[in-house]
Amino acid sequence: MTNTQLIARARAHNFFSWSAQDAVNPLVMARAEGCYFWDADGKRYFDLNSQSMCMNIGHGDPRVIAAIQAQAAELAYAGPGMVTRVRAELGEALAKVTPAGLDHFFFGVSGADANENAVKMARAVTGRHKVLARYRSYHGATYGAISLTGDPRRWASEPAIPGVVRYPDPYKYRSALYREGDSDADFAQRCLDQLEEILMFEGPHTVAAILMETVTGTNGVIIPPDGYLQGVRELCDRHGILLICDEVMTGFGRTGAWFGVDHWGVKPDMITMAKGLTSAYLPLSAVAVNDRVFDHFRTNVFYGGLTYSAHPLCLAAALATIRVIEEDDLVGNARRMGRVLAELHDELKAEHPAIGDVRSIGLLGCIELVKDRVSKEPLAPYTGGGDVMPKIAAYLRQHGVYTYVWRNLLHTNPPLCVTEAELREVMAIVNDALAIADAAIG
Ligand SMILES: Cc1ncc(COP(=O)(O)O)c(C=O)c1O
Repeated sequence: MTNTQLIARARAHNFFSWSAQDAVNPLVMARAEGCYFWDADGKRYFDLNSQSMCMNIGHGDPRVIAAIQAQAAELAYAGPGMVTRVRAELGEALAKVTPAGLDHFFFGVSGADANENAVKMARAVTGRHKVLARYRSYHGATYGAISLTGDPRRWASEPAIPGVVRYPDPYKYRSALYREGDSDADFAQRCLDQLEEILMFEGPHTVAAILMETVTGTNGVIIPPDGYLQGVRELCDRHGILLICDEVMTGFGRTGAWFGVDHWGVKPDMITMAKGLTSAYLPLSAVAVNDRVFDHFRTNVFYGGLTYSAHPLCLAAALATIRVIEEDDLVGNARRMGRVLAELHDELKAEHPAIGDVRSIGLLGCIELVKDRVSKEPLAPYTGGGDVMPKIAAYLRQHGVYTYVWRNLLHTNPPLCVTEAELREVMAIVNDALAIADAAIG
């Protein structure tokens, strides 16, 4: 079957997400291995977005596939109240890689449900109802999670669930709080002062949780200045508020550490995770909670559950994924290749006037395009659109590179198994594609 035939058949009976159905222009994936996938006509693509920033270990790893097959043969499904061998083993394995103290895990199936369950838990533990979440954030597409999301994907689902209050992001490149010459500590302090003022206006005693992506993902790889996370932790402690870090994208080595919070040594009360937890071989999420949260539920019922909570096949995929990350030192590779990626980003910025900023931590990266470096006017509007970014995406696709291009952002998130040669090769194609942006701004 050719690409054209497959696309026609799929489009006849499928509903695609985040799209007007007549506008979808999908790629076909026939097979995949490592950093690459092939379409049905045999064309190869480099996966510069690890699909949805989720295939951390890379495609087609036989160790994970074998673990899923073995689990299917042993026990394919058990209800969420059952204990299974793999459930016992995965809890122990996760407790070894999460920050100390975050060692009780509630399993779901998606990043969205992990965030919703974390909020439910925070409300139950504190008896308060408000949740502070950031503007440039994405926490999932189900009703609660999209209400927590700050970016425009939320608008179509409003009015949202009540109790969500938004606060601004520590976005050095565009924040009005950043002053030229600020140290990390200066900028972090301004952001913290602003957050504290918002808390004062809201009444800290009404706030159950502060939620954040440790490093913002799809909204542009916003890396908090040193001191920010520590300061938020301190604010939470002072007011009895729970800190929830959404590590759905940043977990499992993506940033060059097991979890984003490890870079700053901060321990949230809860970490939500999905994507890299199984490297997306099967759907699985988890909420990791500390004793403060867990102790509450020793004697109080947790009102939440899913038919597929702790699904044995998904747990087996997670267990095998953790082993692969350890065996292949993928956290170390993300750190080492992250340094190469950062250098390549800097070289691109030196060459292309259309690049306003480049940001990366480990192998979570993004290139921000502008019409003018001084005014910082984005190359495409905040709501998306314009014709330059689609041209860049089309060029990349034509030249065998798949990545996430939206608004004025071009994401650079290869699988963590990427080699230096592969990284240099794919970024050379990105370099060529960026000539389109330079030409557009004249
Ligand atoms: C930071 C973050 N949180 C939550 C989610 C939602 O995860 P899912 O699509 O598995 O519901 C995503 C998905 O992109 C994400 O990037």
